[in-house]
Amino acid sequence: MANVSITLSVNGREYTLAVAPDLRLIVLLRDHLHLMGTKEGCGKGECGSCTVIMDGLTVTSCLVLAVQADGAKITTIEGLGGKEALDPLQESFIRHGAVQCGYCIPGMVLSAKQLLDANPNPSRDEIKQGLAGNLCRCTGYTKILDAVEAVARGGGKR
Ligand code: FES
Ligand code: FES
Repeated sequence: MANVSITLSVNGREYTLAVAPDLRLIVLLRDHLHLMGTKEGCGKGECGSCTVIMDGLTVTSCLVLAVQADGAKITTIEGLGGKEALDPLQESFIRHGAVQCGYCIPGMVLSAKQLLDANPNPSRDEIKQGLAGNLCRCTGYTKILDAVEAVARGGGKR
């Protein structure tokens, strides 16, 4: 199969790439752009660890083809903050002890960001629903929900 030329914006930087028609977005992000924060868990759209924001909505990047992202604006965890300046959600996850192995956390944080961008004052139930597609094998969820709720209630500088 011949490669296809696509142009997309990732974390505010524009890329034009020739990609195989069957290349998945998660592989493009990790192997081609070296953005290793996006994690692959199930590879079947069930765990949410590969979540990124695409044109304002969360998607499971294991189920999106790179060619489907042609023209899109993508945000990965690297687009939120770094060691020098963390996003308030990242700070809150740390402050609440919401991170154990960390594998699910980039997807959790991006789902929380999309939720708070769309609904800055969600109820606890709305936060649960917003994170329902993200599975965590470690924390039991309470601290994750606490971390997101703290930002929603003004505990961060959003
Ligand atoms: S790796 Fe994409 S949903 Fe699990
Ligand atoms: S912190 Fe380990 S999977 Fe969530």
